[in-house]
Amino acid sequence: MNINKIMKMKGKEKIVMVTAYDTPSAKIAEKAGVDIILVGDSLGNNVLGYSDTMPVTMQEMLIHLRAVRRGAPNSFIVADMPFLSYGHSEEESIKNAGIFLKNGANAVKLEGGKVFGNLIKKMISIGIPVMGHLGLTPQSLNVFGGYKVQGKTKASREYLINNAIELEKSGVFSLVLEMVIEEVAKEITEKLSIPTIGIGAGRFCDGQVLVFHDIVGLNPEFQPKFSKKYVDSFNMMLNALEKYKQEVKNEVFPSEHNIFRGGE
Ligand code: KIV
Ligand code: NA
Repeated sequence: MNINKIMKMKGKEKIVMVTAYDTPSAKIAEKAGVDIILVGDSLGNNVLGYSDTMPVTMQEMLIHLRAVRRGAPNSFIVADMPFLSYGHSEEESIKNAGIFLKNGANAVKLEGGKVFGNLIKKMISIGIPVMGHLGLTPQSLNVFGGYKVQGKTKASREYLINNAIELEKSGVFSLVLEMVIEEVAKEITEKLSIPTIGIGAGRFCDGQVLVFHDIVGLNPEFQPKFSKKYVDSFNMMLNALEKYKQEVKNEVFPSEHNIFRGGE
């Protein structure tokens, strides 16, 4: 997989993206044959126990990116630039993006609109492919004042369409649309020649992305409306651990299959 193949999928074949944060989830994603693995900064809430993505650092992202690359040696991997790793200084931003490529990413993703146009152009010019991200961008949670569906008002719709077009002009190879009303995501998808990848952005995007933990049901407290739980891993794992506990208490485990003997 590469950015040209991804871009050519638009209008022909839906693009499948899933997050992964560690070696086992990356192995599963690669074996399932997804088109793109995203090492999302949703690492913060799905794996590290933070309540949002804001605290996630470059160092944390790098540990998990490298683990994902080890689990998915042949996959196309996009790494999320975490809050404050880009935007404040061009030099720092480009350096951080480059560090991701040196550590196994094929591209980076950053949240935000046309204000990042020049930065994105510069990244691309030195060899760093960039994926855009518009709509509900969780790093701006404090500016939005909550997690709200985007594109409902005329101003919001115009902001999204205008910024999607500008991001395409700055060279992003694809664009994530998060929690955008279906009509607006459809309109953006039709206006752009690069693929859109939706999460909570309806049926008409060129691809879909979901969080690994939502798909496999590892997040028992929270089930976003836009996601789909295909298996209840949390309760499967809970049952396994309860059984293990019971078997140790009742001296059923270890059994004679699990022991070592001396002699021959
Ligand atoms: O971090 C993440 O999981 C993401 C996806 C929701 C697109 O950015
Ligand atoms: Na993210």
